Amino acid sequence: MEKILITGVTGMIGSYVLQNLIQKGINTLAGVRNSKKLDKNLFSNSDAVYLDYTKTDSIEKALSLANKVFLVPPMHPDTSAMMKNVISRMKSIKAIVCISASGADANSTFPLLRWHGEIKEAIINSKIPCTFLAPAHFYQNYIQFCSESIREEDTFYFPQGNTKKSMIDTYDIGEIAAKLLVKDGHAGNTYNLAGYDYDNLEIASILTNTLGKEIKYIDIDPIEYKKMLLEMKIPEWKIEIFLKLNAAWKAGSRLKSNEEAKLLLNRELRSFEEFLGNNKEKF
Ligand SMILES: NC(=O)c1ccc[n+]([C@@H]2O[C@H](COP(=O)([O-])OP(=O)(O)OC[C@H]3O[C@@H](n4cnc5c(N)ncnc54)[C@H](OP(=O)(O)O)[C@@H]3O)[C@@H](O)[C@H]2O)c1
Repeated sequence: MEKILITGVTGMIGSYVLQNLIQKGINTLAGVRNSKKLDKNLFSNSDAVYLDYTKTDSIEKALSLANKVFLVPPMHPDTSAMMKNVISRMKSIKAIVCISASGADANSTFPLLRWHGEIKEAIINSKIPCTFLAPAHFYQNYIQFCSESIREEDTFYFPQGNTKKSMIDTYDIGEIAAKLLVKDGHAGNTYNLAGYDYDNLEIASILTNTLGKEIKYIDIDPIEYKKMLLEMKIPEWKIEIFLKLNAAWKAGSRLKSNEEAKLLLNRELRSFEEFLGNNKEKF
């Protein structure tokens, strides 16, 4: 019987993949690192198993119970080594859908793209059929990075200038991943999931209209932004990656518009307005 292991199930995409697969009546196995989150109430409609990428026993146990995997490499300096260990133990796995990044390249000088490139190479070398999803910037990042300052100061801060960047709802990525996990014919493809293009003044205006109070965007100096993230207890290696990404967006780099996500979904993508309507209480 088919059973799909969902990694990153407590994160921004995996939670929606699980929800979608359960709705389709698929046998699912939630791979959960935090034992408190293994609580039956959180995963009542799915089997769940302890899974920590730093614990090989837990990887082997989780993989032995499934025949397909939704793989979310966490953003971590050891992610490439951790994922290579996971992939090398996928003896009984028949298919993978893996979250990647646009421009993933094992020779890149930018750590994030190098890690994703190395993971992609390891999966291709394993010969396990895999579909890669390279999504745009998540709307959900605004919950993670901006909700507190919006609540307390009616303001959000990024060192991004006001150039447009492509953005997408992880709800849509989750629905696409769930479809690809149950449908044949996509293995070997990398889908660049561009979303809609927004700049931060447009985002501020949508926040203002939805929250019913004026929300300002401040294009903060990168040094000040680093101080802010350090206060949020974000590790320095991660801050350096965010600063590089923000500088690239400010310089105009963004995932080029395409129809791939819309075609895979067979519907329009969720807009930032819809995302905010569904997550208003988090701001
Ligand atoms: N953010 C974006 O805009 C964006 C855009 C394109 C691509 N991506 C890619 O999306 C991926 C996910 O990003 P993210 O990390 O920010 O997502 P996230 O939503 O924070 O998810 C990370 C998940 O990985 C789990 N995890 C972390 N370390 C683990 C470990 N040692 N063992 C088992 N599970 C572990 C976390 O579990 P816990 O709950 O236990 O921590 C969580 O469920 C990354 O590969 C990133 O490059 C992100």
